[in-house]
Amino acid sequence: MSKLLLNAQIVNEGTTFRGHLFVRNQIIERVFSELEDYSALMSESVEIIDLSGYHILPGLIDIHVHFREPGLTQKGTIFSESRAAVAGGVTSVLEMPNTNPPTLTEKLLDEKLSIAEKNSFVNYGFYIGVSSNNLDDVLNVDSRKTCGIKLFMGSSTGNMLVDDDEILNKLFAESRLPIVVHAENEKRILEHTERIKSEYGNSPPISVHPMIRDVEACYQSTKKAVELAQKYHTKLHIAHLSTSKELAFFSTAPLSEKRITSEVCVHHLWFTANDYDCLDTKIKCNPAIKTQEHREALRNAVNSGQIDIIATDHAPHTLEEKTQSYFKAPSGIPLVQHSLQALLELVRQHIFSLETIVEKTAHNPAKLFGFEKRGFIREGYFADLVIVDLNSPQTVDSTNIFYHCGWSPFEGYTFNSKIICTFVNGNMVFQNFTTPEFNFSKTYQL
Ligand code: DOR
Ligand code: ZN
Repeated sequence: MSKLLLNAQIVNEGTTFRGHLFVRNQIIERVFSELEDYSALMSESVEIIDLSGYHILPGLIDIHVHFREPGLTQKGTIFSESRAAVAGGVTSVLEMPNTNPPTLTEKLLDEKLSIAEKNSFVNYGFYIGVSSNNLDDVLNVDSRKTCGIKLFMGSSTGNMLVDDDEILNKLFAESRLPIVVHAENEKRILEHTERIKSEYGNSPPISVHPMIRDVEACYQSTKKAVELAQKYHTKLHIAHLSTSKELAFFSTAPLSEKRITSEVCVHHLWFTANDYDCLDTKIKCNPAIKTQEHREALRNAVNSGQIDIIATDHAPHTLEEKTQSYFKAPSGIPLVQHSLQALLELVRQHIFSLETIVEKTAHNPAKLFGFEKRGFIREGYFADLVIVDLNSPQTVDSTNIFYHCGWSPFEGYTFNSKIICTFVNGNMVFQNFTTPEFNFSKTYQL
């Protein structure tokens, strides 16, 4: 059925205007400004949805999520996490390879693709991982099956560290796909771990996390990745910047002119080291959340254009796993459902504009990965849309958290905005006009 979405504030490509959208099948067929006449399109077969008082944004394209399937389904599944994603206004995701088994071959990509085809509420793409012995698989993979290469230049959840210079040089020299890097210097992390263990024993306080995974560890590793990319002219994207110091490597040039790009994640824009007191190992993540000074620099870099993309690094673990002592608790935070609400809160605080949020969460991800007809509200583009009410307080609690793991670092927090509904490929897959409802529909590989 076709739909007319009427009277909303449409946020797109640097401006916000009152208007209407006509969606037929999967596509935004017409974009009307407020005063244009859409009446010729009204008929019995067209569903009219009045969105007065609401905003329409392009659905978020989250280029950094961990959905845990196959093999880690006690933490999450493609079904459960993509369902939570649409409740947060996310319409496409790129998923990371540190599953079990890790996604190191084309065959394993095929397996993920076939799970997603049947189970994903959002459009999807999967990264292939690099290990110490799959370089040929990575360099020869069918590029239609993967969105890019994920390289851990610093170990994190999943033992996928690559620190052999020969492998790194060959990878950067010969890769035809973009390389997305987790940058933290492993040697430094190990040295700090030993020092902390000798000082505190096996159960130090969480406040040691940004000392173990410190600013210099991020800086040195990012520097190395950038130098390799410069040497070989590789397309490089640095994931989850967490320090002011790393910003030195990124320019404010337009995205179309950049070969080296960067990302910040919602938790590094929201939390600071002061939050460890309350949230403890719940916000243990890699790279670590650092001091307020770093958070401010990252926020400024989003506005200046040094940072191109905002993602989540959605990385669910069970509460039981997370509430162990410091060394035992795994790193990672479930975030994909709450990223837009958190960012809208920062808009309310005048830290970002609404248009900047849309640029960094939808336009730029689509441009960077070359996703055709997505990421913008334009005629002929897929109707991947999120409708939000900027003035409807919602407290995060167990009744409205949709992650399989059932918890959120925002639990108890009241956001001023609410996700009203989400369209993926023209289908209303989530709506919360009164009570939340999901409706599964077919999605596509990006
Ligand atoms: O905190 C993190 N969690 N950082 C990562 O690099 C991996 C992720 C996970 O998969 O749990
Ligand atoms: Zn990650």
